[in-house]
Amino acid sequence: MTQPNIFITRIIPDPGLLLVKEHYFPDTWPHDPPPTREQLIERSRGVDGLLCLLTERVDAQLMDSIGPQLKVISSMSVGVDHIDVAAATARGIPVGNTPGVLTDATADQAFALMLSAARRITEAERFLRAGKWVTWSPSLLLGADFAGATLGILGFGRIGQAVAKRARGFDMRVLYHSPNAQPMYDAQSTDLDTLLRESDFVSIHVPLNPKTRHLVNAEFLSKMKSNAVLVNTSRGGVLDQTALYDTLKSNRIFAAALDVTDPEPLPMDCPLLELENCLIVPHLGSASKKTRDMMSLLAAQNLVAGLKGERLPNCVNPEVYDRTQTSPGV
Ligand code: GLV
Repeated sequence: MTQPNIFITRIIPDPGLLLVKEHYFPDTWPHDPPPTREQLIERSRGVDGLLCLLTERVDAQLMDSIGPQLKVISSMSVGVDHIDVAAATARGIPVGNTPGVLTDATADQAFALMLSAARRITEAERFLRAGKWVTWSPSLLLGADFAGATLGILGFGRIGQAVAKRARGFDMRVLYHSPNAQPMYDAQSTDLDTLLRESDFVSIHVPLNPKTRHLVNAEFLSKMKSNAVLVNTSRGGVLDQTALYDTLKSNRIFAAALDVTDPEPLPMDCPLLELENCLIVPHLGSASKKTRDMMSLLAAQNLVAGLKGERLPNCVNPEVYDRTQTSPGV
């Protein structure tokens, strides 16, 4: 039997890479930065399996340039907004992702950002390193309290729920807004306006799709409390950065902390970088060693299963299998 061709768009952590190499001889993009669009098209042409990251746009054009033999697209990410899943489904290609294993790391990151923005940690460190620390002062760099504060969680899936779980330990009241989500960890379901009106902290955990693009816009921000802290660990496209800049610049909310931006990387002339009350880190929600090892393993398991014609352990478009099962003559 001929060996399938595989393109892995970056060196992924060992657990996944070794699993793929146990079975196959993948072509692997050897370094950062990732392949350009042209390089991606060139290197992936004719492959049977593609293992990509969230940095690659996998659209219908790419799928067609790869060719009809493509059997599986596996992304080492939980979010799949960089993949045209409908186009993959239309071509009968299963798409895999890596849910679950990054829930705790991402919830930790949301909490770390919330604490840092509320207690002005990065601003305070810049202050100290600039030699501005003259004395202990009753009014130096005052921040916000957690105990007794209300946290509003937008999107109550796995990660939103894990944030709610952590908030209990901080004695916070938790509200959430998320269609069809079950209440847990003492969190109360509410409509969006109530959540924005009552929350001292707002944490975003919705996937990016046409409905959520710029969900956090000028109107959304205008409904938040003036002392509120906004945290985004989902996708940069959920937030209108111009509206956030105007809101923070005029101190209409207290602070924001962003793990994700649009675009990524954020250009160094982005006006948000001028603001002391905006903390930005380079998309590190799942960035712990154990989590990235598990993500790479799950992505490799999806890839290998797809190449063998087996059901992907984590498939975002399982309807490709229903269609195969019910199609005439199968
Ligand atoms: C990270 O943002 C992911 O989707 O895995």
